[in-house]
Amino acid sequence: MANISYIDGVYCNIENAKISINDRGYHFGDSVYEVIFYNNGTFYDYDGHIKRLYNSLKLINIKFHITKQQLKIIIKNLFRLNKVNFGSIYIQVSRGVADRNHSYFKLNTKPILTMIVSKQKNNFSDDIQGVKAITVLDNRWSRPDIKTTQLLPNVLAKTYANEKNAYEGIFIDHEGYVTEGSSSNIWIINKNNEILTREIDGKILSGITRKTISQFTKNNNFKMLEKKFTKEEMLNSREVFLTSASSFVTPIIEIDNVKINNGIIGKTSIELRDLYFKNF
Ligand code: PDD
Repeated sequence: MANISYIDGVYCNIENAKISINDRGYHFGDSVYEVIFYNNGTFYDYDGHIKRLYNSLKLINIKFHITKQQLKIIIKNLFRLNKVNFGSIYIQVSRGVADRNHSYFKLNTKPILTMIVSKQKNNFSDDIQGVKAITVLDNRWSRPDIKTTQLLPNVLAKTYANEKNAYEGIFIDHEGYVTEGSSSNIWIINKNNEILTREIDGKILSGITRKTISQFTKNNNFKMLEKKFTKEEMLNSREVFLTSASSFVTPIIEIDNVKINNGIIGKTSIELRDLYFKNF
């Protein structure tokens, strides 16, 4: 983690960045967020992430006073102050501070913007590692398409995965279909060499990395379909990989102790990962 963070108009050392005990993000998860990766002067998919942030704010009726231009200045300042070349930024906007009351009817709170920069080692693009995953029942609320900080099921799924020595927990819906990872979108390449990822049907987050990869597959003549698939199809597929702003394209080589492609990273996953890095 880098030292200087941003909180409600102030750049300050992370130790002094304190949030009110009455912040609605703290009380109710009444806040939205984004994570954007930064590599030597370039933000990955910046516009897509910022557009989604403002859309999330709109979806939960937070009237945000900061413009996209002002936001960009703050983000750039933070990277400069922290002297970070490789890393990511976490952006959170909560509805603001108020006495605890579920309803925000007639509340005139000022939204609170906070940002944290994280440093990363700089050889991430060469660092292709296959990871393990486990499946868990998708027991989230019915609006996982909104990027809110209300992430308890995701937190429990990821922790459960880590306890089982796995990197990601993959949610399976009540009908046996894969929805998404606890913090990623999931893709398979089936025996017909079709690349599948679930369609945007309200049951998953519309991942920004997912959108970019989906565009690459179309531009590079892969057979790609936005279509849901079952857990069994996933376990029997040639390749499985996940996408997210912090994990890019990461191959999954084992799920629930079943090896995918004999536990070897597939060539299409590597190809798509390379294409992703070359794009920026
Ligand atoms: N998570 N699905 C979920 C539930 C996520 O939390 C994320 C990202 C994604 C991938 O979205 P994107 O490609 O836009 O990052 C899908 C971020 C990285 C996080 O919570 O840290």
